[in-house]
Amino acid sequence: MAVNSHPLVRVFPGSRCSLLLVMWGLLGCIIMFYFYSTIQHQSKGERQIGLNYLAMTRELEEVEEEYFHFPSPRGKRSPRAFKRRGPRKPPSVIDEFLDESSDLRPFFFPDHKTAIDPRKDDDVNRYLYPGRLWLDTEGNPIQAHGGGILFDERKETFYWYGENKDGPTYHAHSKGAARVDIIGVSCYSSKDLWTWRNEGVVLPGEETNLTHDLHRTNVLERPKVIYNDKTDRYVMWMHIDDVNYTKASVGVAVSDSPTGPFEYLYSKRPHGFESRDMTIFKDNDGKAYLIYSSEDNSELHIGPLTDDYLDLTNEMRRILVGQHREAPALFKYQGTYYMITSGCTGWAPNRALAHAAESIMGPWETMGNPCVGGNKIFRMTTFFSQSTFVVPLPGLPGSFIFMADRWNPSELRDSRYVWLPLRVGGVADEPLEYNFGFPLWSRVSIYWHRKWRLPDGWRNVQT
Ligand SMILES: *[C@@H]1O[C@H](CO)[C@@H](O)[C@H](O)[C@H]1NC(C)=O
Ligand SMILES: *[C@@H]1O[C@H](CO)[C@@H](O)[C@H](O)[C@H]1NC(C)=O
Repeated sequence: MAVNSHPLVRVFPGSRCSLLLVMWGLLGCIIMFYFYSTIQHQSKGERQIGLNYLAMTRELEEVEEEYFHFPSPRGKRSPRAFKRRGPRKPPSVIDEFLDESSDLRPFFFPDHKTAIDPRKDDDVNRYLYPGRLWLDTEGNPIQAHGGGILFDERKETFYWYGENKDGPTYHAHSKGAARVDIIGVSCYSSKDLWTWRNEGVVLPGEETNLTHDLHRTNVLERPKVIYNDKTDRYVMWMHIDDVNYTKASVGVAVSDSPTGPFEYLYSKRPHGFESRDMTIFKDNDGKAYLIYSSEDNSELHIGPLTDDYLDLTNEMRRILVGQHREAPALFKYQGTYYMITSGCTGWAPNRALAHAAESIMGPWETMGNPCVGGNKIFRMTTFFSQSTFVVPLPGLPGSFIFMADRWNPSELRDSRYVWLPLRVGGVADEPLEYNFGFPLWSRVSIYWHRKWRLPDGWRNVQT
């Protein structure tokens, strides 16, 4: 074990240029938000809120530059990793990441001793550590992978839904991807997005009925839940597949309560097309949409749900055609729609891209990599993770949490959560469209932090 006493990470001195850029960017943001908060406090006549708001956005925007030390010489590696890489190619950091015997392992998957543990909460130490184990209020690791968050306004509670992968990882056959049998969809509840209470498996897998979509030998991924105001029901959409990913369908379940139990209704191929990674998005006007990777993951499709959210309408648009994107996460800010996606490289991490659109049905434009800070490897691998959801922070307009999964293909149940602050502002990297010479889109930035927290009292800012 070559992970020595001095940390694997340190300030990277050679990046003055990018630091300078970041500093200017920050200055710009701070000035913008100063004006914004001034306007806000003038309109509300509450100076205090404006000042608090400024401090909060500053705290969310801090950026860290990091630098890897490769421990050397490296110890022996697993035969599986050797096979993957072949004998000649030098190991890349991604190879190290995927190699369960790599000396860098504890850097990507820190052990239990460093877990985020709400039972030790002393109210000043509510930090999020992307990649560390995250325990629930009973001290068990949170099992909510490929997840999403519903904010229930009436209950003022956040519900985190995700795949429970707490079973053995195996390969169904020699060509099959690493997998875990379906256990079901977990739900956790929280008031502060830090302390999570396990509400149990709200949609369990099926043990006996072999022809059931949720039979444990099938695939259930990326469950997302939205609330329907008209029917007063909670509707879950998810990716349903067989072990070889040939079914490529979406499944729908419904419940009267956010904590279930959810009743599984059916699966189908949306608009008659293949559907793999997917998400749903509920707009301010109550209209909801399904977005899914299709045509062999070469493009995304988007279409509105019916009013009860239990089915799709016939309307569909192809977006990001030929771009081979998956893991879509949608959000909206000041009337513009944004989406983060990943490339398609199985469990291996890759570069995220941000996209924007004036109308949710498109056209969508690609703006570039939203990741800021860390170092180049971090930015080119979405901080060794894959997007799954973007959470708007109630009461902090323009501030979001980017939720991603750091998959651990050799032990999927030990996959980690990477949550980071996301902000919209500044000029996009690749603004393809201009309006009277001004770029149409704002930059989406996801800031790397080894450690960060939501500002004190952020829940009190809600008005
Ligand atoms: C098994 O599941 C299928 C598909 O959901 C269903 O049609 C069938 O009735 C189920 N069989 C039993 C015995 O529950
Ligand atoms: C999946 O693929 C493997 C190998 O091609 C095959 O043996 C198996 O029967 C397939 N399983 C299903 C459920 O299609």
